[in-house]
Amino acid sequence: MDLAIGPLDLPAHVDEALAVQAAAFGLGPDEVAVRRQIVLRHMTYPGARALGATVGDDLVGFVYGMPNDRTHWWSTVVEPYLRAQDHEEWLDDSFVITELHVHPHHQNRGIGRTLITAITDGAGEPRSILSAIDTESPARALYRSLGYRDLARQVVFPSAAKPYAVMGAPLPLRRR
Ligand SMILES: CC(C)(COP(=O)(O)OP(=O)(O)OC[C@H]1O[C@@H](n2cnc3c(N)ncnc32)[C@H](O)[C@@H]1OP(=O)(O)O)[C@@H](O)C(=O)NCCC(=O)NCCS
Repeated sequence: MDLAIGPLDLPAHVDEALAVQAAAFGLGPDEVAVRRQIVLRHMTYPGARALGATVGDDLVGFVYGMPNDRTHWWSTVVEPYLRAQDHEEWLDDSFVITELHVHPHHQNRGIGRTLITAITDGAGEPRSILSAIDTESPARALYRSLGYRDLARQVVFPSAAKPYAVMGAPLPLRRR
């Protein structure tokens, strides 16, 4: 397998990335259209970065994130949940993983682990936070094995059908 992992010009490849996310996460066409605008906006934020995994010319996985900013929508939603658990300080000096997806045909081969480890290795912040659907999923198992722990659970995002867990880890992420 001719796998390569490196910087991704996400605005230029947003449709390929969302096709990966749609296959991995189960997004319909309407959700893809909404996400497209959100991703393009996110990539204008200071410090936003993306990495992609390609096999030949095909994008098979991607990750993107940015330094947390308390004025960003995601941060304002999770803030009261973190405050209630005395974990509000995780919103400062923290690199947020906004999305991580690997196409189902390429999962469970170490691509997700490599992507999230590589993007956080390039972060200047001492810690990382993210949100994941609050259920025992491959994503949650991966995050725990990298040192992420639950900071808040049953976090409700207004637009989401299922509650999320917010997780945080010190950087650099734990190696196997
Ligand atoms: C989460 C995701 C990105 C992981 O990518 P991946 O390339 O398959 O992950 P890796 O091969 O690097 O696996 C790393 C770890 O994930 C966990 N994992 C992966 N597949 C798993 C499975 N089927 N069941 C349980 N754990 C699994 C394991 O802890 C694994 O560690 P190991 O290698 O020591 O066994 C991928 O499963 C995915 O895209 N899922 C759907 C979308 C999603 O949930 N994204 C995250 C949103 S928060």
